[in-house]
Amino acid sequence: MTIVPRVIAGRVHSSPRLRVVRLVTETSRGLAAAMVLYVLADGFLPIVALIALGRAVGKIPPAVTHGLASPSGHSLLIALTVGTLAYGLSLLRSPVEALLAAHCSAAMSTGMQRRLARAVCAPEGVEHLEDPAVLDRLASASGELSSSGPADAPLALASALGDRLSGFLACVTLATFRWWVGLFFFVGWTAIRPPLRKMLAARATLVRQATPDLRHSWYYLGFSYRPGYAKELRMFGLADWILDRHRTAWLAGMARPWAQLAKFQRRALLFGLVVAAMYVAGAGALALAAYHHSITLATVAIMLPMFASTAQVGGVTAADVSLEQMLASVPDLDEIITGLRASAVPGTRGAAGLPAAGLRFEAVSYQYPAGDRPVIDALDLELTAGRSLALVGINGAGKTTLVTLLARLREPTGGRILIDGIDVRELDARSWQRQVAVVYQDFTRYPLTARENVGLRDIGAQIDEAALESAAARAGALDLIRALPAGWDTICAPGYLGGTDLSGGQWQRIALARALYSAAAGARVLILDEPTAQLDIRAEASFYTSFLDLTKGLTTMVISHRFATVRQADQIAVLDGGRITELGSHQELLAAGGSYAEMFTMQAAQFAGRKSDALSRYPPGRPRQGRYPPGTAPAGRAVRHGLAGGAAAVLRLRPGGPVLIGADPGLSAGVPRHRGRRGGPPARADRVRAGAHRGGVPRCVGTAAGRRLAQLPAHRHGQHQAGYEDRCPSVHGALP
Ligand SMILES: Nc1ncnc2c1ncn2[C@@H]1O[C@H](COP(=O)(O)OP(=O)(O)O)[C@@H](O)[C@H]1O
Ligand SMILES: [Mg+2]
Repeated sequence: MTIVPRVIAGRVHSSPRLRVVRLVTETSRGLAAAMVLYVLADGFLPIVALIALGRAVGKIPPAVTHGLASPSGHSLLIALTVGTLAYGLSLLRSPVEALLAAHCSAAMSTGMQRRLARAVCAPEGVEHLEDPAVLDRLASASGELSSSGPADAPLALASALGDRLSGFLACVTLATFRWWVGLFFFVGWTAIRPPLRKMLAARATLVRQATPDLRHSWYYLGFSYRPGYAKELRMFGLADWILDRHRTAWLAGMARPWAQLAKFQRRALLFGLVVAAMYVAGAGALALAAYHHSITLATVAIMLPMFASTAQVGGVTAADVSLEQMLASVPDLDEIITGLRASAVPGTRGAAGLPAAGLRFEAVSYQYPAGDRPVIDALDLELTAGRSLALVGINGAGKTTLVTLLARLREPTGGRILIDGIDVRELDARSWQRQVAVVYQDFTRYPLTARENVGLRDIGAQIDEAALESAAARAGALDLIRALPAGWDTICAPGYLGGTDLSGGQWQRIALARALYSAAAGARVLILDEPTAQLDIRAEASFYTSFLDLTKGLTTMVISHRFATVRQADQIAVLDGGRITELGSHQELLAAGGSYAEMFTMQAAQFAGRKSDALSRYPPGRPRQGRYPPGTAPAGRAVRHGLAGGAAAVLRLRPGGPVLIGADPGLSAGVPRHRGRRGGPPARADRVRAGAHRGGVPRCVGTAAGRRLAQLPAHRHGQHQAGYEDRCPSVHGALP
């Protein structure tokens, strides 16, 4: 291979005009043929009509003299017929153009949108869809920002080519009168055109560069009609604000192109003077020849209109302005179609049956392109196949990010992820993604039927009805689906005929069912990213009671803020600062007294008194060792003196002394009296050893099983009350 074909290929690629021609031929050969015919007709017909009518004018005097039956009369009739026919056909230009435009635009835009859609779906990850440069290109290529999108370019180009051809033929016709006149006009117009076009292209580029602003302006406008925004738009009274923002962003984007257009008009005036000089010279030569009778009447009649027609060879019109604009988006189209394809990282190994042993994150790091620090930072974590792992961490800790890395929606910026010891990059990405079923925190609510929403994995193939029912039943969605107007065939979106919307919790059940169906259909890893946040307590409890049974044999990862859920997992990992800071079973982590224990304690307080809460299994009243469910009893030494034994006294320690916030009725009777200094210094329960109240100084004690214990003189009945301070929601919010 030499370098030459590549250079030529490069040129073909970089010329938007040639690219448009290729786009048309790729879209439809019939359309391309129609375009060629259109260009020829558009170029030839007006000139043929003008020549024939000019000839007819020349034949009028002899025909008048010798009669219509004479040879001159016949020539007149023939010229008239040809002229009228050509003229008549050229009149068809507008309707034919409209027809072709409609067809071309429809065929091209559908074709291009499909190509764009295919291109943006090509990368296995999602990062490109967060890249502003890609989004700008996408907006430009899809033509959504302007009235002149690339889909309209072919016809605009054909029309321009037809004009060019007409202009050229007019110059050729003029050359038959005086060769230099034809050449003069051709060279003159041809010389004027490039600078004019350059100015136009510069303007189109400016408009293209305004894409970020224009995209923003459209984004604001979109608020007004997208249902997702409708509620808050009204509640916050944003209607005027969005129109304002739209206007500001749009004007900001268009300011430079407009300024350039004004400059362009001033220069165009200069070119006008050159053109006027050309016409004076050409028409002068014709007039002189006519004056000296060196040309016939027919020649005068033919040549006169040709002067006007030559303008088409180099003149620049409003159509050219929009053509340049349409063409400016063509490189974006190419860039998206070819650029995104190239970004796919090929891996070839199939992932069926993986993982059999487990998954391992090895020093994995990830930093968002827009971020200033790694969200995941040299993280190590192992998931054993067939076991469950709960991932906990505060909002923004990076839990969801970790899931997207595992599912290969993002490429780690450091480290590697091993599936049964195989680097995930060696696996075919699509094949691996089929092994992973995820309920994303922001899962998608498809405007499809309930059947398709649950059986999404097999939507292109045969959906297994039995598996569908079973998945829905296990996710607690079956009853709600059966109750829909058309059952499984109901469209889950309100904007469609017979469609209906579901509540947040109902949607979450559908999403759970979707993941369970996937698992039944072959996925080996099940990830639930805060899957039950919108379910009511009862529904969540019942889902998780059966969850481990449901997912036996699967490798599961659950992200949840509900510790009733988390504690059921085989292993719990705490994600903090981009790393796993604690790892172990519920009991192990509680005993460790770290951040897991603290988070658990805080939340447990919120559920005080609720039947569904594990803590309520501590019986109220005086504690007795051995009455707690296995594994949940506080450490023995911490429950001495009846401080801890499930008594639901609620204390808050603050400067000036502890205050009783709430207590189970009947508690006070069971708690012994303690000496202590009223109004003493504030005590930190977590700093004080169990039983430290004995000296009478602090009225609070240490931690047991990760929970804080406290005791104080009650302000009711003069008695002391004590218990876990975490049993009341109002406590932890104000802990010292
Ligand atoms: N697409 C994104 N681009 C840039 N930063 C992001 C993106 N998604 C999330 N982040 C940032 O990454 C951090 C972790 O986010 P995420 O993984 O969603 O947290 P979690 O799921 O633990 O609440 C957050 O600080 C968030 O702001
Ligand atoms: Mg998240």
